[in-house]
Amino acid sequence: MKQPVRVAVTGAAGQIGYSLLFRIASGEMLGKDQPVILQMLEVPFEKAQAALKGVMMELDDCAFPLLAGMVGSDDPNVAFKDADYALLVGARPRGPGMERSDLLQENAKIFTVQGKALNDVASRNVKVLVVGNPANTNAYIAMKSAPDLPAKNFTAMLRLDHNRALSQLASKTGKDVAAIETMTVWGNHSPTMYADYRFATIAGASVKDMINDEDWNRNVFLPTVGKRGGAIIEARGLSSAASAANAAIDHMHDWALGTNGKWVTMGIPSDGSYGIPEGVMYGVPVTCANGEYTRVEGLEIDAFSRERMDFTLNELLEERDGVAHLLS
Ligand code: NAD
Ligand code: LMR
Repeated sequence: MKQPVRVAVTGAAGQIGYSLLFRIASGEMLGKDQPVILQMLEVPFEKAQAALKGVMMELDDCAFPLLAGMVGSDDPNVAFKDADYALLVGARPRGPGMERSDLLQENAKIFTVQGKALNDVASRNVKVLVVGNPANTNAYIAMKSAPDLPAKNFTAMLRLDHNRALSQLASKTGKDVAAIETMTVWGNHSPTMYADYRFATIAGASVKDMINDEDWNRNVFLPTVGKRGGAIIEARGLSSAASAANAAIDHMHDWALGTNGKWVTMGIPSDGSYGIPEGVMYGVPVTCANGEYTRVEGLEIDAFSRERMDFTLNELLEERDGVAHLLS
């Protein structure tokens, strides 16, 4: 049996936490031979800490053979101590009358503190996934607040958008979702994202040629994927949780254990390629091997794609500018 690894999860008593923690403890994220110690963070309020205790009681009651220990805390320096993996799920949700800019400011404060704590106490190899919205900019803030950790350790979750796109394509083509390869989603986890199936294949055949309907791409596929989060909130009265947790598991699983050459989408700090300024946390296609991700390079960007990629980039640049004063 391997040595246990430490997995920190913030917002542990929330909706996504409730779908996520049990799957991590059962080995679905890091493998059925990898024991884990769960280090769970919640806000210091009595109700949240009581709910966290309840979640920990349920984790106990599952008697997971791979669950080698648990820590519950309201202190990021405790929850992130020696963490090998950190899933930053907890965030301030948008309240009544709150503008997107207010949401940015509130979350910027949280992710400044958490980035600093990761910087101070986490493993130097910690793999960080930010799920809490606005995910890309929160990941950017955490990365900037952790100057002693490699920037490449910080990622934002675009995998839910990637999975949503795969599912729409499977339904349109009538093919098995698992058969679709080389799909990607560019940019921000927001309705401005650009889900791009120009390179996607099924058994070597082009999905674009199979569908052969640009009108469907622009007027059905892109809005459906881009606004899926909103559609779920409308339908459930709550934002996506099980599918978001599933995407977080997929993201971390693939980063840690590899994709065997398969493309997946991750929000990662840009290296300047594809015309995305360096450091911007932007969704791109990657492959993963040996615990590292590698950006898929050299893809052709046509005029429509350029326009869509710049549109989502501009939103990210605005968000970055909106929090710059907190990072200086
Ligand atoms: P939730 O409100 O059910 O749970 C969030 C939990 O985080 C709460 O228990 C809250 O107390 C806690 N929390 C808040 N601030 C915290 C902090 N500073 N430290 C630790 N914990 C803190 O929300 P949820 O449905 O679990 O969603 C969590 C976040 O994930 C939201 O921001 C949501 O918008 C986002 N989300 C992202 C994606 C994505 O694809 N990136 C998808 C779905 C949801
Ligand atoms: C989602 O994509 O389901 C969420 O990010 C939506 C939201 O705004 O919480």
